[in-house]
Amino acid sequence: MKVNATINGMKRVLDVQPDEYLVDTLRRYNYLSVRRGCDTTSCGVCTILVDDQPVPSCAYLSVRADGKTITTVEGIPKHAEKLSEHFGETGADQCGFCNSGIALSVYALQKSGKGITDETLRHYLVGHLCRCTGYQAQHQAIKKYLGDSDE
Ligand code: FES
Ligand code: FES
Repeated sequence: MKVNATINGMKRVLDVQPDEYLVDTLRRYNYLSVRRGCDTTSCGVCTILVDDQPVPSCAYLSVRADGKTITTVEGIPKHAEKLSEHFGETGADQCGFCNSGIALSVYALQKSGKGITDETLRHYLVGHLCRCTGYQAQHQAIKKYLGDSDE
């Protein structure tokens, strides 16, 4: 089946199977920042943006992407690099495996125009599991990164 989607600002025609999930399609098309972290739709590592909304690509059938705008980390390199550097400088992460999904959810929050508060941050990060940290340092680092004036 053919799926027409705009990926990171470029129009693409994807050849997909009816039962294929977007994480697998995107990896097949070399968007290798998109990864699987679990088999239970519960870790958030595979997060991408569909029409600016974070979704787990391991649970999103590729055929649903027809006519949609998809964003992966390859499409937001400066934002992802800056956030990653900030994590490193503040010691807020360890292995970094969860970072690509988190970077996209943080980007979605930034684009949403909603205020950066503990509540909005928790809302956008709720589906992201991190095996290494206790979350608090990550959340504080992200708030600082986003320029929260309360910090
Ligand atoms: S791979 Fe874990 S939620 Fe998608
Ligand atoms: S820093 Fe290792 S999984 Fe989050």
